[in-house]
Amino acid sequence: MNKLSPSILSADFANLERDMKLLKDTGADYAHVDVMDGIFVPNMSIGFCVIEAIRKVSDMVLDVHLMIDRPVRYVERFCDAGADILTIHVEADTEENTLEALRKIRAKGVKAAISVKPKTPAEAVLPYIDLCDLILVMTVEPGFGGQSFMADMMPKVAKIREYINERKPECELEVDGGVNVETAEVCKQAGANVFVAGSAYFKAADKAAFAASIHK
Ligand code: DX5
Ligand code: ZN
Repeated sequence: MNKLSPSILSADFANLERDMKLLKDTGADYAHVDVMDGIFVPNMSIGFCVIEAIRKVSDMVLDVHLMIDRPVRYVERFCDAGADILTIHVEADTEENTLEALRKIRAKGVKAAISVKPKTPAEAVLPYIDLCDLILVMTVEPGFGGQSFMADMMPKVAKIREYINERKPECELEVDGGVNVETAEVCKQAGANVFVAGSAYFKAADKAAFAASIHK
């Protein structure tokens, strides 16, 4: 089943309770929460407090995307804050620490996930796939909403779909960055099944229709 995970980076931060309700009412499956530390990416966003606050007012699945350096230091706190799915970047630490972070997430009963930046090859997911409930392929350089979709990431999406089908068929395959109704279609062809959309979702006049077209 295809799922929509609108990125609240494009929501109104002064009205997050309202916008979380909007996600639910328009048929979104997850709420994508982008955490940036100003080191792993050249931007900062939100942290524990905001996740705790939205956890209290929404029962949406919180799909938390950590764009932070050495996430092993903080994954348990993000689980406690309310993440349902917690994604860390393979580029953010050593293989040993990334494995440890994934194990810590799973021990909390939270779904564990890894993400790869555009320049990182498909094979980089292989050491982690058995510990993953979801793999996220970035289709822009992480850090900012509203960038253009990188269609040249599709061979990587297709390769990772092959790995998933061979080794972990229940693992979800998510794309993030520049996803709209048209580019989501290209990602579906390549094998993705979870679609993060920030600007395209929040700009859509008919958000329920947007969600329906992602679900097709
Ligand atoms: C970018 C973030 C994305 C971002 C997507 O670093 O990871 O989740 O919010 O925004 P759009 O859909 O506008 O490209
Ligand atoms: Zn994201």
